[in-house]
Amino acid sequence: MNDTQAVQSLFKPFSFGDTTLSNRIVMAPMTRQFSPDGIPGADVAAYYRRRAENAVGLIITEGTVINHPDSSNQRNVPHFFGADALNGWANVVKEVHDAGGKIIPQIWHMGAKGHVNDYSESDIEAIIQAFSQAAFEAKRLGFDGIELHGAHGYLIDQFFWEETNRRTDRYGGNFVDRTRFAAEVISACRLAVGPEFPIVLRFSQWKGTDYTAKLVKTPNELEMFLAPLVDASVDIFHCSTRRFWEPEFENSQLNLAGWTKKLTGKPTISVGSVGLDRDVTSFFTEGKGASLTQVDELIKRLEREEFDLVAVGRSLIADPAWASKLREGRMSDWVPFDPEAVKKLY
Ligand SMILES: Cc1cc2nc3c(=O)[nH]c(=O)nc-3n(C[C@H](O)[C@H](O)[C@H](O)COP(=O)(O)O)c2cc1C
Repeated sequence: MNDTQAVQSLFKPFSFGDTTLSNRIVMAPMTRQFSPDGIPGADVAAYYRRRAENAVGLIITEGTVINHPDSSNQRNVPHFFGADALNGWANVVKEVHDAGGKIIPQIWHMGAKGHVNDYSESDIEAIIQAFSQAAFEAKRLGFDGIELHGAHGYLIDQFFWEETNRRTDRYGGNFVDRTRFAAEVISACRLAVGPEFPIVLRFSQWKGTDYTAKLVKTPNELEMFLAPLVDASVDIFHCSTRRFWEPEFENSQLNLAGWTKKLTGKPTISVGSVGLDRDVTSFFTEGKGASLTQVDELIKRLEREEFDLVAVGRSLIADPAWASKLREGRMSDWVPFDPEAVKKLY
């Protein structure tokens, strides 16, 4: 089999709400900080359009923050509220759709400034309302769905994790009780967008402050953790790991996306060092780049239907044509990830 044939399983359509993705390749959400005062401009639209033109099946935008005073501590991270920012996003949607692509925003709250323990019930209510307003705006602007950022130690994950959630009310407790905040956010978003609009939840075991953290230690715990989130109406789970080939638990080679699909029956997105030899933490902690690798193992897992979609991060910063080169079997033309690429928005 030649390279062009070998990769075709990545280029099968996938049904997504009432639309269809042309293939299984997803651009992972990546913060770029190119939106002055929170407003994404024409350069941001062109950046996403370039990936849509080059065969990315679904773009998940960089994290974009909700309308709450603590939601962001970075001036150039895009807002998902206010007329100017929302007009900027409307233009992003238009550019991506004109190029034949699909796009969802990653809806983000960076986290409590102190502790989630400090929030009162009325603070929580206001935050849930801000999430649901963002979901409503996403649909109004013509996005193809939303992703809620429940990973990497940001607000939703701060509620999940025992180290950061010491609450003694109904938002605290054991690892299942600690899903209540996320479940309420999801349900509120569902009410705002109706039954057909896809809601993706991104979650992770690892945290920005602890790469070895575990929310759950066994498949049984994972099943219990996910059940309330399924009940709250998540359509697709985006299971963030640093290396897609690593088994999540003992005695099975399934990764987190594999287990999540098996236990919930929901479609999943896998992610982590696709086509690269070093994981993203080497960039975050040491500013390192990465070299190219083959994608055979990824394709094998996709063909076994361990997961449905594959998110690609750093490679799609380095090379907007990464997916189209893959489709054509031109992996030798891929541009390896160089940290310098993060400084420009190309
Ligand atoms: C520059 C940069 C910014 C990122 N920003 C986000 C973000 O806003 N939201 C998020 O969920 N993950 C973020 N991530 C993590 C990526 O979505 C992805 O999970 C990670 O890079 C692993 O994929 P990769 O190995 O293909 O790069 C970021 C990663 C990078 C490199």
